[in-house]
Amino acid sequence: MTTIADLNQKAKEILTKNDRGGYTIPTAGLYPYQWNWDSAFAALGFAAFDVKRAWQELETLFSAQWDDGMVPHIVFHRQDPGYFPGPDVWGGTGPVPSSGITQPPVAATMARFIFERDQDGSQEAIQALFPKMRAWHNWFFKWRLDQGAACVTHPWEAGRDNTPEWDDAMARIDPVGVGEYERRDTTHVDGSMRPTKFDYDRYVWLVQMGNRLKWNQQKLLEENPFRIADPTMTFILLRAHRDLLVLGEAIGADIRGMAEEIEMLEGGAASLWNEKIKSFDARDTKSGEWTNCVSNASFLCWYAGIDQKEQSAQLERVLDAVKFGVPSHDPESPKFDGRRYWRGPTWAVVNFLIGIGLEEMEHPLAERVREATRQLITEFGFAEYFDPHDGTPAGGQFFTWTAAVWLSWASPTIGENNGIN
Ligand code: SER
Repeated sequence: MTTIADLNQKAKEILTKNDRGGYTIPTAGLYPYQWNWDSAFAALGFAAFDVKRAWQELETLFSAQWDDGMVPHIVFHRQDPGYFPGPDVWGGTGPVPSSGITQPPVAATMARFIFERDQDGSQEAIQALFPKMRAWHNWFFKWRLDQGAACVTHPWEAGRDNTPEWDDAMARIDPVGVGEYERRDTTHVDGSMRPTKFDYDRYVWLVQMGNRLKWNQQKLLEENPFRIADPTMTFILLRAHRDLLVLGEAIGADIRGMAEEIEMLEGGAASLWNEKIKSFDARDTKSGEWTNCVSNASFLCWYAGIDQKEQSAQLERVLDAVKFGVPSHDPESPKFDGRRYWRGPTWAVVNFLIGIGLEEMEHPLAERVREATRQLITEFGFAEYFDPHDGTPAGGQFFTWTAAVWLSWASPTIGENNGIN
C-alpha cells in the first residue's frame, strides 16, 4: 500500500526529475520547456525542501523577461523537436528564445509564500525580483486591461487553452493561410484528452499573426480579434499585486501607486460578475458578450479576497454534481467533456488556488476542495488533470505542478515539512 510518506517522497522525486538545471519542465515529452506559471508553482514545491532552488526557478523565469516587462509563457532554453509550436514559429523578441504571450501572474503570490517560509534567506531574492515583478504587472496595466479587468489575447495566455469560454471568439476566426503543421502533443497523449484541430488551427494562426507583427502590442491591439476579459487573469493579477505590495513593504521598496492599482483591479474583478448566470464570467471585449460559462476560474474569486454568496451556491452545485471537484467546466453544461483538458477535468493546481482562497476566508466548502484534491492524488497519482466523475488520470503524468501542490498544500503532513529533506 502506498503511504503518505511514499507520496511525499514521490512528489519530491518528480520535481527533481523534471529539473533541467535551474528550471523545471512541467512533464517530460508533452511540455519539454520552462512554462511561466508552472515554474512559479514548481518554485513553491521546491521551497518544501530547498529554498535556494525555489528562488533559482523564479530567477531563471525572469531572465526571459522582455524589455517592455512582459514575462513569456514558454521559455525555450534548449531546442526540443518534441514540441510544437517551437521558437521559430513564435519569433519571440526577448533576451532568450520564447513565446510572445504571457500567462497568469502567480509568481508574486508564490514568492510571498516562499518568503514567509524563510524571510532571512529570501531578502536578496526579493530585492532582485521585486522590480521585475512590478514591471510585469505594469505591462498588464498598460496593455491588457478592459474596465480594470485583465484580458487574454490568446487562449494559451489564460493557461486554460480550450475552455468553452473561448468557443464563440474562436469560431469568429477564419484561420486563413495557417498552412500545414505537425502537432506533437497528440504523439504524447491521446487526442481525446487534448484540444481539437479546429482549435489548433486558430491557436497557430494567432501565433503567426503575433510573429508577423513582431509582437508589437499596439499593433496587436488593433489587429488581434481575440481579446477576452478573463477571471483567471483578473483574480490572479489582483491577488498577485496585493502580495507584491506586501513584499515591497517588507524590503522597503518604492510602492507608490500600488494601492490605487489594486483598487482599479478590484473594479475590474467586480465588472466580471454576470448577473444572468449568477457567476463570475469571461467577457468578450470584441463582441461585448458574456461567455455565459461557469468554469473553475469563476471560483478564483476567494483567492482574490472576494466573497460572493451566489458564487458559493454555484460551487456547492458543481461539487455535488461530481465525485472529485472542482471541474474546469460546469458538469451540467452540454459542453462539458470530462477528459478533454479544460472542458471538464479537475486540475489539482486550480483547486489549490481556489482552496487557499476559501481557507483564507474561512469558507465552509474549503475542506471539501482540499479533501477532493488529496483523494485524487492519493488514489490516482500526480497526473496533469483528472476526470471529475471517476478520477481517471489524464494528460501528462508525473506532473510538476501536481507534485508541488501535494508538497505545499494537499499532503496531510505539510505542517511537518512532509518528512522530506
Ligand atoms: N498549453 C499549451 C500546450 O498544450 C501551451 O501553453 O501546448
